Amino acid sequence: MSEKGTQWIEKKDGVYWPSEKMKEKAFVSDPGIYREAKENPKEFWAERAKELIDWFDDDWNYIQKWNPPFFRWFEGATTNLSYNCIDRHIDDKKDKPAIIWEPEPLDEEKKVLTYGDLHREVQKFANVLKELGVEKGDAVTFWMPMIPETAVAALACQRIGAWHSIVYTAFSPEAVRKRMDDAGSKMLITADGFYRRGKAVELKDRINGALEKVDAESCIVVNRADLEPEMVDGRDHFLSNLKDSVDQSCEAEELDAEDIGFLLYTSGTTGKPKGIKHSVGGYMVQAALSMKWVFDFHDDDIFYSTADIGWITGHTYTLYGPLIHGGTTVWYEGSPDYPNLERWWEIIEENEATQFYTAPTALRMLVKMGKDLPDKHDLSSLRILGSVGEPIDPETWEWYFNKVGGGRCPIVDTYWQTETGGILLTSLPGMGPFVPGVAGVPLPPVNYDILDERAEPTDKGAVVIKEPFSPGMLRGVYKSPDKYKEEYWSRYGDKIYFSGDEGIVTEYEVGGQKLLKIVGRMDDLLEVAGHRLGTAELEDAVQTVDEVAEVAVVGKPHDVKGEVPALFVMLIEGAEPSDGLKDSIVKAVRREVGPVATPGEIYFVNDLPETESGKVIRRFLRSLLEDEELGDMRTAKNPECLKELAEKVGYSGPQEIPGYSS
Ligand code: WT7
Repeated sequence: MSEKGTQWIEKKDGVYWPSEKMKEKAFVSDPGIYREAKENPKEFWAERAKELIDWFDDDWNYIQKWNPPFFRWFEGATTNLSYNCIDRHIDDKKDKPAIIWEPEPLDEEKKVLTYGDLHREVQKFANVLKELGVEKGDAVTFWMPMIPETAVAALACQRIGAWHSIVYTAFSPEAVRKRMDDAGSKMLITADGFYRRGKAVELKDRINGALEKVDAESCIVVNRADLEPEMVDGRDHFLSNLKDSVDQSCEAEELDAEDIGFLLYTSGTTGKPKGIKHSVGGYMVQAALSMKWVFDFHDDDIFYSTADIGWITGHTYTLYGPLIHGGTTVWYEGSPDYPNLERWWEIIEENEATQFYTAPTALRMLVKMGKDLPDKHDLSSLRILGSVGEPIDPETWEWYFNKVGGGRCPIVDTYWQTETGGILLTSLPGMGPFVPGVAGVPLPPVNYDILDERAEPTDKGAVVIKEPFSPGMLRGVYKSPDKYKEEYWSRYGDKIYFSGDEGIVTEYEVGGQKLLKIVGRMDDLLEVAGHRLGTAELEDAVQTVDEVAEVAVVGKPHDVKGEVPALFVMLIEGAEPSDGLKDSIVKAVRREVGPVATPGEIYFVNDLPETESGKVIRRFLRSLLEDEELGDMRTAKNPECLKELAEKVGYSGPQEIPGYSS
């Protein structure tokens, strides 16, 4: 029986709760689960591990071993993510769609990869990797668009125990080079190009220089757009020339739960991106659990996540989560505004998607430019809406809820990080409540808390995780145990994980726990259009311009992107501010980091507020941009420079700045 148009939620006391229908349907609907799971957290995870995934051998040596701040889970047991995503479904789901791929060009047909197709293609790709010398534990870098071969390639790596390290296509070749270099990867998988906003964007031809620099041994190229890229003999290979001549079968490798499954680079507080390590077993268990519970993912569901594979959301929910459960996932190659702002709604309607998962920044753009466009489409197949990447403001929440969800669907506001591997905090569909702007409670049995500076629980402060943790959390930073300790396990000691975010305890409650609201980053990281960027990384990029003496980057509020990088630039003696120089700076950022980091604002200034020890006081810069109170200006050794800065940014906040009037 069709469930289209079902009312999945109801309003009580001004807040939304699951309706009876939702409670009946949902895998979990009894809030008692929160308490139950906490009573025996390790057993809770062990049971989920046995119930949700297939093991070749499930006789682990222990459930969890904790040598703070290092964890190990299920060691000694063996499994494989590719096996869990494909082989175990093959008997009953050979012809079921695994991936529905929507190309961007309108004159191209969508493509459906069944589980049978995946099984065949992944085995071939795995043998291509082996043929080219890739072995278990090798890092293979991807610079791949949203095309089916990307999924096949990732699953092929998993199959043989190689670590994929996927770099978002809006990062630059130079950013790819740095990541290849850090991971020591000798192979790159890329495409000739892909379609975005109606144009073919080149990949292979842009990356050649970087491949030379890292001394890559091989590069596999998928032909997507017939761009005929330059190929280096002996190093570069078109996938199509290799895959039919290799052995067509390849069994999934039996990997230890504690083997590394993949690396994913993310920005940290220093200029150098961190290679976050995820494990084979623990990651899979958490991905499986969160997929099933948070999205209430049933066998006949059609899951549509707009997240690109270059981000952790793309890994866990656009790719692995749905496939672990033998489900169907929708992949779209291009931009939400091509050929117009209805593309996503068309994709939902056409495929009768039951879940839709996206980021607030995209929703804000769609509200701004096409508020009523969802009305033109039948979106009644939807049951659950998801939000991720940044806080969702109540206004956008209401629009999403009413216009996209028809006032029928819960919004799961999912809070997590590259480091946590999967969703760790949200309201669950069968339990609620769903409150605009409030993320929710930790997934059982995870223990999130809000702490003040003295590590005491408080109502507004640092978001931390205490024991019990989740098996899906990072296993470290590649080659940098010190960085791992320093970034996550030093603020509150080695037993409390510091997320870098600030949060608030709200009055709402479920299962004996208060819902948390996530405010934003407390450190120097930016979230630009939901993408995490390090200010230090951007500053290093700007410093490559000869005329730049000093630079400070902070986030400036932006109504669609959340924030954009604002650059305060001091020039060397003799250099003059000019549009040409601005151009060079923008180019440098795009070259070193990528278009994803394009500056929103560049201010040329004569001085920057500094502490006695010469550290730029970013807090002042942020307050100036946000028109907020600056506080005691004497903490700067050169407070007189604030007048010029206030003029440059057009400050209209409450603080009196000597010599400046707004
Ligand atoms: C940072 C992690 C998680 C996958 C996408 C981003 C912010 C994420 C939410 C949310 C408020 C959120 C946090 C976090 N964030 N989800 N629902 N509400 N903030 O992954 O690049 O690792 O970034 O994104 O600041 O620390 P990421």
